[in-house]
Amino acid sequence: MSASLQQNSAHPDGIVRGESSLTDIVLRAMAGTPDSRLLEIFTALVKHAHAFVRETRITEEEFEKGIDFLVRIGQATGPSKNEGVLLADLLGISTLVSLLNSRRGNEVTASTLLGPFWRANAPRCNPGDDIVRGATEGIPLLVSGRVTDDKGRPLAGADVDVWQASPVGYYENQDPDQPDMNLRGLFTTDNDGRFHFRTVRPAGYPVPTDGPCGELLHAQKRHPYRPAHLHFMISASGCKTLVTQVFADDSEHLNSDAVFAVLEQLVGNFEQYTDASGKPCATLRYDFVLEPGIRTFPTPPIP
Ligand code: BEZ
Ligand code: FE
Repeated sequence: MSASLQQNSAHPDGIVRGESSLTDIVLRAMAGTPDSRLLEIFTALVKHAHAFVRETRITEEEFEKGIDFLVRIGQATGPSKNEGVLLADLLGISTLVSLLNSRRGNEVTASTLLGPFWRANAPRCNPGDDIVRGATEGIPLLVSGRVTDDKGRPLAGADVDVWQASPVGYYENQDPDQPDMNLRGLFTTDNDGRFHFRTVRPAGYPVPTDGPCGELLHAQKRHPYRPAHLHFMISASGCKTLVTQVFADDSEHLNSDAVFAVLEQLVGNFEQYTDASGKPCATLRYDFVLEPGIRTFPTPPIP
């Protein structure tokens, strides 16, 4: 008997005897994880990942390709986008996490995915301010709303953080023609929970396709478009922070969002009209209801 086999025979449970013995051996190796939630998550991950490999009979070449894909997802992440978040979005995982972590039913506003473009520390604004910070041409849009708790009580002093793409479909940090923090702003609700601000109508846009996620969409013959929307992150003490989006009801791709974020309740009524000088303008009124909980903030996907 060789020296290494003698050593292993002291731990016979660790010797792999064929494919079917492997999963239990890995699970036993992790069984001493002190953090019980970490143990639960990795136990499920190993079980599902092994079942996935067995079901698909992944070849060695496919495995290598898959690892390379994940490595490139990391490498493609930088100051202007987060390819990891984008991958989770394109696979419907972000929406599933958000649906499973918020209250069901219509009595509170539904949350939907954060996306890769939220930046912390948007400029603090006064009621009615315009979040257009440069020469961004577009249809003027007045947004107003009210923030209440699940008992209908106004939430005064709530933070309403808003960010959106431009009328040509770019976030400011993707577009050298836009000033820093263009189309981003942080508003505070008044004593009656109300807020309002001015902006321009956002356009729908393609998710970034210049990285590995673009290759995936191409291979799956999927379009990359998102319907036009405004992002909101609304927070108040004693409430679960609401991360959501309000979609334009007249937007293309409302029924085929590349990242599966459109919930019926989140389609807003963008009313378009012509002003006294004959120019198109629009309004959006949308009220938000927060559920009780802890006010937390996500880690920004980009700096
Ligand atoms: C966004 O809405 O900002 C977004 C969401 C998912 C992928 C790309 C962009
Ligand atoms: Fe967006």
